[in-house]
Amino acid sequence: MARNKITVVGAGNVGATTAQRVADAELGDVVMIDIVEGIPQGKGLDMLEACPVSGSDVHVVGTNDYKDTAGSDIVVITAGLPRKEGMSRDDLLKKNYEIVKSVTEQAVAQSPDSILIVVSNPLDAMVQTAFRASGFPKERVMGMAGVLDSARMRAFISMELNVSVDNIHAFVLGGHGDDMVPLPRYSTVAGIPLPDLMSQERIDAIVQRTRKGGGEIVGYLKTGSAYYAPSASIVEMVDAILKDKKKILPTAAFLEGEYGINGLYMGVPAKLGEKGIEEVVEISLTNDERAALQKSAASVQELVEKIGV
Ligand code: NAI
Ligand code: 2OP
Repeated sequence: MARNKITVVGAGNVGATTAQRVADAELGDVVMIDIVEGIPQGKGLDMLEACPVSGSDVHVVGTNDYKDTAGSDIVVITAGLPRKEGMSRDDLLKKNYEIVKSVTEQAVAQSPDSILIVVSNPLDAMVQTAFRASGFPKERVMGMAGVLDSARMRAFISMELNVSVDNIHAFVLGGHGDDMVPLPRYSTVAGIPLPDLMSQERIDAIVQRTRKGGGEIVGYLKTGSAYYAPSASIVEMVDAILKDKKKILPTAAFLEGEYGINGLYMGVPAKLGEKGIEEVVEISLTNDERAALQKSAASVQELVEKIGV
């Protein structure tokens, strides 16, 4: 059986830690590609040299040439610019739109049968960009954010209740922004719904901390954003697809009527397997939850319209 091949576009913090985790988990050969010369090559070689110690029989290479990415099963897109001084959110949106569009076109030309997992921010608008630029069916283009947002919520619940993270399941829907929609009703500890275990006040505090989870890390790091939990979250999706696990994970998926949303990427529970998104799972929502999801969708719609995807 041929080994899987995973390309990671962007060899920065998220890209490099993702490549390392993929290699450590022996999920397949890894190609890391970046626009900066030397960085992907150096990081790739360093990771390759770690393989004898970790006992991973995979090949890792860094490159600036898309030809090296040919025939990838999965392409993870983490390329992007951080917001710089004097740059508005809209400037950043347009800059990252150009980057994601260009890297998608180059990657899919080499790997026409691949599955794309987009990570670059603003997430939901960037995955919609990659979807349009790739011409791929919607099943093969998805975004990572919900696994991360849910992981953060799980960590906070674990700390609050002093219970193993293994026991905790958390549910976050919507776009990857301040108006994401954590769902306490569907979040459980050993199968027990959160509202049975915690006061509304404590639940509200956890929901708020989850919503601001990305910003909390930036507040500490100052010059960058989170990458350990993001890369772990990406690898859970890669693993589910390559092993055809049929695992239901919160995923940014292109909706065509599900949850009353049409023609837009949005974080929803989706079954991931070898074909990519094999099913969008619809759960029943209260009026308030549905309104929160619509609000989140409206924020994503605004961004998508600005870049015309
Ligand atoms: P970083 O700045 O460390 O790395 C970005 C890399 O992209 C750099 O190495 C840069 O050279 C590269 N790059 C820029 N233009 C490129 C191009 N045209 N082709 C190839 N590579 C190019 O940033 P970091 O921390 O790795 O974050 C990457 C992106 O992921 C950001 O947009 C960030 O906001 C986003 N992110 C999204 C998360 C999510 O939940 N969806 C979680 C964490 C980060
Ligand atoms: C995060 O949530 C920056 O989107 C990134 O950490």
